[in-house]
Amino acid sequence: MKLLEERIEKDGQVLGENVLKVDSFLNHQVDPMLMDAIGTEFYQLFAGDKPITKILTVESSGIAPAIFTGLKFGVPVVFARKHKSLTLKDDVYSSEVFSFTKQVSNKISISHKFLNQADRVLIIDDFLANGQAIEGLLDIIGQANASLAGVGVVIEKSFQKGRAILDQKGIKVESLARIKKFADGKVIFVEE
Ligand code: G4P
Ligand code: NA
Ligand code: NA
Repeated sequence: MKLLEERIEKDGQVLGENVLKVDSFLNHQVDPMLMDAIGTEFYQLFAGDKPITKILTVESSGIAPAIFTGLKFGVPVVFARKHKSLTLKDDVYSSEVFSFTKQVSNKISISHKFLNQADRVLIIDDFLANGQAIEGLLDIIGQANASLAGVGVVIEKSFQKGRAILDQKGIKVESLARIKKFADGKVIFVEE
């Protein structure tokens, strides 16, 4: 997605070897006009398939692109919660997600109320790095006996192992920006 790649080049900051900071339009401040274009793009990439009933993501940074995608499909958006809340109680599917970036393990949960075997799900997330967050959502979709339409990612770091893991499972993955590597503080995209 050209608009997104241009925005990454303009406003993204490369930190160290393998982290891209995009807190001016995605991870802290959010640009709703860009999110709207992202929702439209995901709609075009996935609308041709069998009907999607629900968009799934993980709080917090997946929520903005997921909402705009749900808006285009006209379906609800469910975000997995990372912390136990009083109202969540025990009626939840949950999965353990280890973050290599942050070196912490989080339990993610979705209420039984919002996912079941009648659902055909599109997963949307902001980043695909090692794929642990998405694997957690796949685990939860399995527990609910729901089916998967595919995975839409805003920014994929293709040099980390997440993309390969999803490809090996035969999952349809669409990433709007695919980063091949960082070189001298600059972003090099995968060539189409
Ligand atoms: P994984 O889910 O692909 O395995 O990612 P990993 O554990 O490596 O990353 C943990 C968190 O860091 C995730 O956010 C992920 O979206 C984010 N992340 C990974 N690589 C980058 C990067 O290069 N830049 C930025 N800005 N974020 C990255 P999270 O823990 O779910 O946090 P939240 O921001 O959604 O609350
Ligand atoms: Na995320
Ligand atoms: Na994040």
